[in-house]
Amino acid sequence: MVKSRTPFNDQWTIFVTFMAIISSGYGIGVNWGTMATHQLPPEKVVQMMKANGFDKVKLFEADPRILTALIGTDIEVMLAIPNVMLPQMSDDPGFAASWVDENVTSYFYPGGVYIKYVAVGNEPFLRTYNDTYLECTLPALQNVQNALNHAGFGSQIKATVPFNADVYNSPASNPVPSAGDFRPEVRDITIKIIEFLYSNDAPFTVNIYPFLSLYSNTYFPFDYAFFDGSKNPIRDGDKIYANVFDANFDTLVSSLGKSGYPEMKIIVGEVGWPTDGDKNANIENAKRYSQGLVQHILSGNGTPNRKGVIEAYLFSLIDENAKSIAPGSFERHWGIFEYDGKPKYELDLFGFRENKGLVAVKGVGYLHKEWCVLDPKADDLGELPKNVDYACSLSDCTALGYGSSCNHIGVKGNASYAFNMYYQMKNQNSWDCDFSGLAVVTDEDPSDDRCEFPVMIARGNPAGLLHRGVFGILLGVLEGFVVFLLLVS
Ligand SMILES: *[C@@H]1O[C@H](CO)[C@@H](O)[C@H](O)[C@H]1NC(C)=O
Ligand SMILES: *[C@@H]1O[C@H](CO)[C@@H](O)[C@H](O)[C@H]1NC(C)=O
Ligand SMILES: *[C@@H]1O[C@H](CO)[C@@H](O)[C@H](O)[C@H]1NC(C)=O
Repeated sequence: MVKSRTPFNDQWTIFVTFMAIISSGYGIGVNWGTMATHQLPPEKVVQMMKANGFDKVKLFEADPRILTALIGTDIEVMLAIPNVMLPQMSDDPGFAASWVDENVTSYFYPGGVYIKYVAVGNEPFLRTYNDTYLECTLPALQNVQNALNHAGFGSQIKATVPFNADVYNSPASNPVPSAGDFRPEVRDITIKIIEFLYSNDAPFTVNIYPFLSLYSNTYFPFDYAFFDGSKNPIRDGDKIYANVFDANFDTLVSSLGKSGYPEMKIIVGEVGWPTDGDKNANIENAKRYSQGLVQHILSGNGTPNRKGVIEAYLFSLIDENAKSIAPGSFERHWGIFEYDGKPKYELDLFGFRENKGLVAVKGVGYLHKEWCVLDPKADDLGELPKNVDYACSLSDCTALGYGSSCNHIGVKGNASYAFNMYYQMKNQNSWDCDFSGLAVVTDEDPSDDRCEFPVMIARGNPAGLLHRGVFGILLGVLEGFVVFLLLVS
């Protein structure tokens, strides 16, 4: 269909652009995790974020290379402190102060990094942590905020705690948002944290994962996970819920209300959909989910029980091939972008509905176009399973499982996939493509249209290093010459 462009359409476009600019303070954020064997250069990733218009980022820890790359941008930053640091943060105010000094003060100056929140821990009350961080989270939060106040940043930088949505729920007997409350085991301590956050004008941060609702419950109504209407909406008094995101969010609103904080500000710290590693994790569903979510956020309508703008950080920016897969194989596939910074699907972040693609990370270097595969001439395959297990245990075979992108490639395909992933992660060393003599290097791409055999990104290719080496020497000579001139003059 050819769209006619009437003057009205143009005015509308201008209006929408205008609104997008005005509302960009509430715009779409994104989580940037770095649990990958091969990182893209942070400066290039930051360029890509700017090109796409992401104006907020959440970091899981203070990586100096990333913070340096963010200097001079106006990207708003939520900077996290990993859970392992919480016990010491809690016991020792001096530790919190030195964390703030090294990781905030060094970057937070006019023209530096626009740090707006410090996230104390990451889902510290998650059920699977068995209460490990139950005691230390509040004192750690207090110490961090005090350190921020002490450094003079208290009114600009707020400490918060990103909670998993498993800290609240509705009873099975009455599964509607208005019946929501905090889980009894964590209720008291969570309310104390809320009290502190509220008194400090800081938000409650929550991670909401409709994908996991679908993953963990076969009877979960599929459409209810998305944003384009459900055949089985939930009625809660006079409110109707057509998607689980709103229902989940409002369960939190009710829980906060019951605790005496009905107006508490909420930030969605993580929300997203993976593209591989499960039967529901694919490009189509991820695009449907992410675009629906973005559209929902941009509408400014909020949820049935909390009108207004929702502030949210998508999970996540780039795939992370070194994440633990204890929760499921999908864990390594949350990225909107592939490991090499290519967008996986089109995502319209501003609601123009123009299906304009996202911009990729530019200037990415790759290793040679070479793959390690099962030698077609290999006839004794007795050692194969052992070798495949070994390769997978040290690389990433999550695309091979049931419902995943490479599940159809057969036993031999599996072996080639495993060998190649190992070979690529090891930077294509010739001695890493042997596997008891079963493997061979090829320059013929084994990928098919569904299953990609990746070629790894270069960590800094030898030619580049040599070039920099020569350049470095030249610079050194120049510097020496300048010093010499200064001395003689
Ligand atoms: C700053 O943050 C990094 C990353 O989490 C951490 O390794 C480092 O110890 C922190 N600095 C201080 C002084 O705590
Ligand atoms: C939590 O407890 C379970 C059961 O006792 C145990 O299997 C698991 O390893 C524990 N997890 C942690 C993070 O301590
Ligand atoms: C390939 O490997 C995956 C993951 O281990 C497995 O589920 C699948 O059954 C394998 N395919 C064949 C044909 O053995």
